[in-house]
Amino acid sequence: MHTRYDFSNRWGIVTGAASGIGKATALLLAASQAGLALVDRDASGLAAVVRACEGKGTTAPLAIEADVSRRSDVQHMVAATGERFGRIDFLVTSAGVLFRTPFTEIPMAEWDALMDTNVRGLFMCNQLVVRAMLEQGGGTIVNVASVAGRSISLIGGVHYCASKHAVIGITRHMARELCTRGIRANAFCPGATHTPMIHDNMDAEAIKGLEKRIALGRLAEPEEHARVIAFMLSDAASYLNGACLDANGGSVML
Ligand SMILES: NC(=O)c1ccc[n+]([C@@H]2O[C@H](COP(=O)([O-])OP(=O)(O)OC[C@H]3O[C@@H](n4cnc5c(N)ncnc54)[C@H](O)[C@@H]3O)[C@@H](O)[C@H]2O)c1
Repeated sequence: MHTRYDFSNRWGIVTGAASGIGKATALLLAASQAGLALVDRDASGLAAVVRACEGKGTTAPLAIEADVSRRSDVQHMVAATGERFGRIDFLVTSAGVLFRTPFTEIPMAEWDALMDTNVRGLFMCNQLVVRAMLEQGGGTIVNVASVAGRSISLIGGVHYCASKHAVIGITRHMARELCTRGIRANAFCPGATHTPMIHDNMDAEAIKGLEKRIALGRLAEPEEHARVIAFMLSDAASYLNGACLDANGGSVML
């Protein structure tokens, strides 16, 4: 199976790279010869992924420990990537959190914590990276949303669902506003996937129940999403802009 695009002489950032979909994307892009700045607030997880990427590509990845909800961390992320590579050709925002608290029970502190990462953090990453991209003449962005942004969430709470609708709104608006200046922005909408986000929140029985809602009868593997994200970043997707690309195994939408 041909699963790689050529990312030689392309440099970019993957957030949430220590785990799950971000990690699988980092490994595939490294094997596709991309120069990578890998970003996560989990320093030890990040170090393990950087080690796994080393030797795959031509350029060793740069590890950036950062909390994307802190503007100073995001500023550092953009500055350090620019210093190391001289440009930022692509951005993948996979950093995200999920809470399951029922609607009537959500404390405002939990609402804020979720929105700080999933919406405010994602916006800041996009805004500061786009500024750098505009100076250099363009770039490509994939924002990781969710099936929860297309419908509702079967796993997360209303705050998670709302945050993923926001990711799609941000991405569509950016795509319209920035495309004439060389920026392509698209949202990627995965369905339930075998990552810690799911396995920390659901037991085996609950996962079996979820599988019944999916036409393919199984959850996704993160590597299956990495291949779609790599396509979205690649020149093969040159006319893809402002899209929401679903990869949910044929989940039944509510
Ligand atoms: N797993 C799924 O079923 C699923 C489905 C749809 C969408 N998604 C989305 O995909 C993305 C990746 O999810 P995953 O399943 O790989 O989750 P994961 O928990 O395996 O990985 C998320 C990573 O993001 C990092 N992170 C969280 N908050 C951060 C912050 N403020 N700053 C820096 N790093 C931070 C975590 O440390 C972790 O390494 C998320 O945006 C999630 O909402 C996941």
